[in-house]
Order: sequence, then C-alpha cells, then structure tokens
Amino acid sequence: MNFSSQLLAWFDLHGRKDLPWQQSPSPYHVWLSEIMLQQTQVSTVIPYYQRFIQCYPNLTSLANASIDDVLAQWTGLGYYARARNLHKAANVIVEQHNGEMPNDLNELIALPGIGRSTAGAIMALAHHQPFAILDGNVKRVLARYNRVSGWPGKKQVENQLWKIAEKLLPTERIAHYIQAQMDLGATVCTRSKPKCEFCPLQADCQAFQHDIPQNYPDPKPKKIIPLRKTNWLVMQLSDGKILLEQRPNSGIWGGLWSFPELDSLEKVAEYCSHNFQTNITDITATPSFKHIFSHFKLDISPHIITVHQSSNNISENNSASWYKISDALQLGLPAPVKTFLQSLVKLRE
Ligand code: ADE
Ligand code: SF4
Repeated sequence: MNFSSQLLAWFDLHGRKDLPWQQSPSPYHVWLSEIMLQQTQVSTVIPYYQRFIQCYPNLTSLANASIDDVLAQWTGLGYYARARNLHKAANVIVEQHNGEMPNDLNELIALPGIGRSTAGAIMALAHHQPFAILDGNVKRVLARYNRVSGWPGKKQVENQLWKIAEKLLPTERIAHYIQAQMDLGATVCTRSKPKCEFCPLQADCQAFQHDIPQNYPDPKPKKIIPLRKTNWLVMQLSDGKILLEQRPNSGIWGGLWSFPELDSLEKVAEYCSHNFQTNITDITATPSFKHIFSHFKLDISPHIITVHQSSNNISENNSASWYKISDALQLGLPAPVKTFLQSLVKLRE
C-alpha cells in the first residue's frame, strides 16, 4: 500500500470525523475553521466557531457585519489580524466574486489572510480538488517520512516539502486524505514522543526505519548572538577605594554604577598615562568573563590598576567617584560589577 492508501485506511478507523466544521463543509465553514485553527488548538476553537456561525451563518452576513461586532465575537481567541482579514476578505468576495468563495487556488491566495496552505485546505476540504496543504503538522510528518533535513521555515526546505506533499496526493478521497494528514500529525506523529507503534506509515517511514523521528524536522536555528569585548578599568587606591562611574541613563545598565570601560588595551594604557601620569604602580589583568544580554554577549576583561591617591585628576569628572567597596556595594550596580567587587573584597582579605 502506498502513503495515501495507508493514511486513508487509518483515517477510516482513527481519524476525526465529528468536528463541527466537518458537518457541512462549505467553503465558508472550512475557511472560517482553518483561520481559527491557525494559531489556536481545536478544543479552544470549537465554542468560538459555533458562536461565530450562529452569529454569521454565511459569508454575506459576515461581510455585512461591522468590524467591531466581528472583533467582539473574536474576543479571547487572540491574533486579531485574523478577524480583520476575515472580514476584509468577506467584503472582497461579495464585491468581486458575487459572494461566492473562489474555486481557484490563486484567487483564494489573493484574498487577505489566506496563504497557500489555507487555500489548499479550502480547495481540498470544501471543493474536493487535489491540492496539498503544508501546516506545521504536515511539515513534521513529511519531514520524518522522507528524512528531509533543514528547518522548514527555510524557503528551500519548505519548497522541497511542498514538492513531496504534491507528489503524494491521491486521486480519490482528497478531503479525507488532507484531514488524515492533519489528524496523524496531531495525534500520532507528535513533536515529542511520536507513537510510531500505532502509525500506518511505519514500514516506509525513513526517520523511523533509519534514524530517530525526533531528529526531524530540524528546529528553528538559534539566532547567533554577537560577542562584544570590553575592558574594565578597576582603579584601586592604596587604601582600597575603587573608582566607579555612573553610566548614562540610556543604553545598557543605564544609570547604574560601573567601572570605566575602554574597548582596547592600548586605550587602557593611554587612559592611565593621561589621567595618572607616573602614579600607576601595578596593572593586574584578571581573567575575563562573559555576561549574556538578550541580544549580545559581553566579554569583560577587568584590569586592576593600583594608583596613589595623591596626584590623580580623575575626580574632576563628576560622574566618577572613589568608593570604599562596602559603600559601593550599596549603589545601583550591574550584576557582574557586584560579583566582581565581592571577589575583590575576598582578594584583599
Ligand atoms: N487544524 C487545522 N485544520 C484542522 C482541521 N481541519 N481539523 C483539525 N485540526 C486542524
Ligand atoms: Fe511519524 Fe513515527 Fe509514523 Fe514516521 S512512523 S510518520 S515518525 S509516527
């Protein structure tokens, strides 16, 4: 048996057949349910779908409604652009298609809020035409069945999956077949712990036979966060006081007290000779460490510089002050500054 006949035989026994939108699957009903199901799970959608259909039993009644009333019906479902597009599309259909949902893939895709997969679902489930769909569930089933690597959000991977989806289409029972794909993905070929032992596709499933199903599809790549380097000037007087400066109110650590930062070692030397002339007695580079922000990592190299209190002019800068470490710990400090100061206390003990 091939893919579609195995799937259809499974659907006859285990598929979902009593969902409200399956009862009289007109193009309007299928469209509405597919839009509601895009970002919302079946159990949540059911009561909303039923109320919506009572309120707007057909496309004309939806088109004639005010957008405020439509949004009120949508309240709680989220992703309100879906409701706006639905209402907009209903009006386009009334004005340009005599109030009839188009029976054409590209005319459907041209409507607000309808992508290729939703259009395919309307064509298959309502018009019984051989069109493929490719929602999240179907992507997962096909990626595993054919061992397609790569993240399906990538155009090239998505195109490959579309090709497979189209090649596998049956010539009969298209509506049951499309529903079967969604049902298998939702109940058997689940993201984690797929129930391969109950799957009708097991014998030919490449991921099951030769690999680990959970390895497919590839997850969304983690965005690479850039690494920035900085040098902290940890200036310390012989009595133990350290120099802190208050950061500008905008930007990272806005308004918090931190060590002066310079972006290269040369600048550290330059800064020291400019501000302290001959008073530097010692520079100790301590091991660098990383601090992770949401959008970048900061690699921090602290340089401990011992200076003599007498002849420095750094305190002319009124956003910088010398603090006893115990007093500094009472200021608003970024976490890594606080940790570092605490380690300095330990060093001197
Ligand atoms: N998710 C998207 N479309 C669906 C459908 N027709 N039945 C169940 N879940 C779905
Ligand atoms: Fe998915 Fe397992 Fe079935 Fe393959 S055998 S399609 S991995 S449930």
